Amino acid sequence: MTNNLNNIFSLSNEIVSEMKRRKSCPLYTYNKGKKKHKKQLLFHKSKKRNRWVFGGNRSGKTECGAVETIWLARGIHPYRKNKKDVFGWVVSLSTKVQKEVAQEKILKYLDPSFIEEIIMNTGSKSSPQYGVIDTIVIKNVFGGLSRISFKSCEEGREKFQGTSLDFVWFDEEPPEDIYSECVMRVLDKRGDIFGTMTPLKGQTYIYDRIYLNKNNDPEVFCLFMEWSDNPYLNKHELRRLASTMSEEELVSRRYGRFLMNNKSMVYKEFDPEVHVIEPFDISHEFYDMISIDPGLNNPLSAHFYACDYDGNIFVIAEHFEAGQNVEYHAKKIKEIAKSLGWMPRKDGRRSKPKNALKQQERHRTVF
Ligand SMILES: Nc1ncnc2c1ncn2[C@@H]1O[C@H](COP(=O)(O)OP(=O)(O)O)[C@@H](O)[C@H]1O
Ligand SMILES: [Mg+2]
Repeated sequence: MTNNLNNIFSLSNEIVSEMKRRKSCPLYTYNKGKKKHKKQLLFHKSKKRNRWVFGGNRSGKTECGAVETIWLARGIHPYRKNKKDVFGWVVSLSTKVQKEVAQEKILKYLDPSFIEEIIMNTGSKSSPQYGVIDTIVIKNVFGGLSRISFKSCEEGREKFQGTSLDFVWFDEEPPEDIYSECVMRVLDKRGDIFGTMTPLKGQTYIYDRIYLNKNNDPEVFCLFMEWSDNPYLNKHELRRLASTMSEEELVSRRYGRFLMNNKSMVYKEFDPEVHVIEPFDISHEFYDMISIDPGLNNPLSAHFYACDYDGNIFVIAEHFEAGQNVEYHAKKIKEIAKSLGWMPRKDGRRSKPKNALKQQERHRTVF
């Protein structure tokens, strides 16, 4: 009887101390309370094998990358098939950034009871936060040991060769050769790539390969995060951050949007997700105007516009070329007009439309 009571007491003590430990480790409270970062959850829930978060600074990117990494290594991912003996890389732009950002977040979310061993590059494993970690060996819940190794892009592509991996997490945009090398590293094991970044470098290969998904890879997934998506940021911090940035900086640093290369944006509200749509058959009745912004050495830009009955304006064709003469541009514009069935008026002129309905009666002008 006394033995039984003792067993019950020691069991309940264990449960209480386990509950205390869980309360103090952010992994167990991550997105569990009333406040939830919905975009982080969308990222975790996506089943795709190449997932990217494009976000402003402080929008919550690195937190979700770190938690994803620990879930995979520990074998406790709530939305994926878990494995044992997982091997993954955390890739930062430099060792300094690794130490201050990705490594710090991993240590924040890693319950110390999961750690089997820490191998340091520099510094002491008794205080890993002050040094540069090479690898953390983690007890996987299926009984095996998983490894999270930290890599820096400064090391160059060669240092990324050879290994077979279950996942790679890029915290911020890596150079393209390192990205491509890592894609090869996960092929064997049908592993995952995920990245969390602020697109500060403009429309790079990530814009083409991930955001536009030019190769139509069915495994590509991306989402944007901005300050207002992060319910954990306080308003004073946001106001202070915003006050230190130009409007142009805000495009990438607040909204995580890709800036156009080598140009500042004239229409800052332009958002490809809103303003670029799939082509559709447009009624000739909506054909409206042609604009020409002349240029001889510089590009000449001609746009063909259609306007529907609700006043929505569509750019339906474009001629854009530099270093050509007037005859050449006129020929090109006429060719587009012909292909669209855009009718010229006999006098070569047209009046401004009074309203959209009148468009049905009008003919179109081609210069
Ligand atoms: N799920 C979360 N739970 C608690 N705090 C969070 C969460 N996501 C983000 N935060 C808070 O927001 C801050 C910014 O997040 P972080 O991931 O570091 O931003 P980013 O990498 O986008 O610059 C963090 O320091 C943290 O305080
Ligand atoms: Mg970050």
